[in-house]
Amino acid sequence: MNRFPRRALAAGIVAACVGAPASAAAPVAVAIDAVHPGPVISKYVYGQFAEHLGTGIYGGLWVGPGSAIPNTRGWRNDVVGALKALHVPLVRWPGGCFADQYHWRDGIGPRARRPVRINTNWGGVDETNAVGTDEFFDLVGQLGADAYVNGNLGSGTAREMSEWMEYMTAAGNSSLARLRARNGHPAPYKVAFFGIGNEAWGCGGNMRPEQYADAYRRFATFVHPGAGNDTRFIAAGGHDDDTSWTDYLSQHVYGWGVRADGISFHYYTSPGPDKNGKYGATGFDESRWIQTLSQTRRMEDFIANNVARLDAHDPQKKLMFAVDEWGTWYDAEEGSKPGFLQQQNTLRDALVAALNFNIFHAHADRVRMTSIAQMVNVLQAMIRTDGGKMVLTPTYHVFRMYVPFQDAVSVPLKLANNPPYTFGGVTIPAVSASAARGKDGRLYLALVNANPRETADVDVGVGGAGASAASGTVLTAAAMDAHNTFAAPRAVAPAPFAARAAHGRLVLHLPAKSVAVVALHE
Ligand code: AHR
Repeated sequence: MNRFPRRALAAGIVAACVGAPASAAAPVAVAIDAVHPGPVISKYVYGQFAEHLGTGIYGGLWVGPGSAIPNTRGWRNDVVGALKALHVPLVRWPGGCFADQYHWRDGIGPRARRPVRINTNWGGVDETNAVGTDEFFDLVGQLGADAYVNGNLGSGTAREMSEWMEYMTAAGNSSLARLRARNGHPAPYKVAFFGIGNEAWGCGGNMRPEQYADAYRRFATFVHPGAGNDTRFIAAGGHDDDTSWTDYLSQHVYGWGVRADGISFHYYTSPGPDKNGKYGATGFDESRWIQTLSQTRRMEDFIANNVARLDAHDPQKKLMFAVDEWGTWYDAEEGSKPGFLQQQNTLRDALVAALNFNIFHAHADRVRMTSIAQMVNVLQAMIRTDGGKMVLTPTYHVFRMYVPFQDAVSVPLKLANNPPYTFGGVTIPAVSASAARGKDGRLYLALVNANPRETADVDVGVGGAGASAASGTVLTAAAMDAHNTFAAPRAVAPAPFAARAAHGRLVLHLPAKSVAVVALHE
């Protein structure tokens, strides 16, 4: 049966379905080896991070049960509804830097009686503690996601951390289990991941790896998830090109009764070349475009270098490499509140997301969890809000397009004849690709064309049977900094994308500056 969607073609699909390439250059060859599948791409690679930072939670997600903005027990219906379409597998909370200043007892019980603290990390604003543990678990329940709770090692105590885990996960008759029941939740919560501190090298306490490893072992000794809770423990690792944390921690986070399942890693993309070179999220030229994409591609080397350290000390691959903060970080939007890390999100961010996904997939055996920074209104967000208004960003659309890769089996591929894309002295490969066999049995191919001026013709070969057609969606726009606004919410939105084999060849005409995800018809 020919499953090629004729209706979509008639409606003006973006791609053509001819065997002959549209551009003069020889096509990029993608050879997919469907016969030799690789490791599973964990759904947790598509995790998201929600911190008590700016309007990331308050206003963006949480409006409170009394709000005129439609909500369910305080959580916005519009935002939660949109996020559900992404099948968000995991939400990391409450920080970030905020995690190491957070004391969980501040956030339980009647909201009117909770203490007001100062969020010293992010703008010095009042932290009302209206969102605490029970509200967070309500959010993940509404989303159908798992919880990644980040504990406070920097300013907390081992006892406090231990009691938080007991409050969340203990069944039975302990005082903390009964306290949770009195707060409305008799059944223990599931804590899928638990972080022991965050960025210990900086806001988490300015420690050396040696100090942190000692502290990790001491704290982790006392944190006992309740029966049936298979919590994975994440040690707070390094960042950027520094592999010393992974190297040291992978040898020293073990001890009697101490569990470690992963080491975290943070890398933020700015046009660069260093952290001061953030520049604007919009209104940039091609040199900032290519610099950003080139900087984000460094994730490949960072992962490979850290994985080499893990392979040296943990050849059985017990430890995952958890990239639990990643995404773009630009200059804050003009007029936004200091410390709120508010930035626009453009087509460039969509390509950044897709390039990172393709890199994570290539390291699926180690990179078994990540969380993008952040979910709503902060840094590279899925969603932006303003009062009761909401808009989906280009990054949201890429997350949605990549849903079939969650828990899919990675499939190796080789790229040949991939032209360099060069501008202003920076060169990167024009095309990036990733393939996987989805849970529905279909073979998916994701493609990125980084060149903002030239179409890339991609000749797709599937080892063995071949592919007769491809259908899916593509994300592109006329301008490099195209973005969605409350007034024009679909300026950047996915469009149908398809191709059919002709003369034994399946050629996809990938538009300039685009991301495409297609199912291949074998
Ligand atoms: O995501 C914003 C901040 O970036 C996080 O709180 C911190 O961990 C990192 O430095």
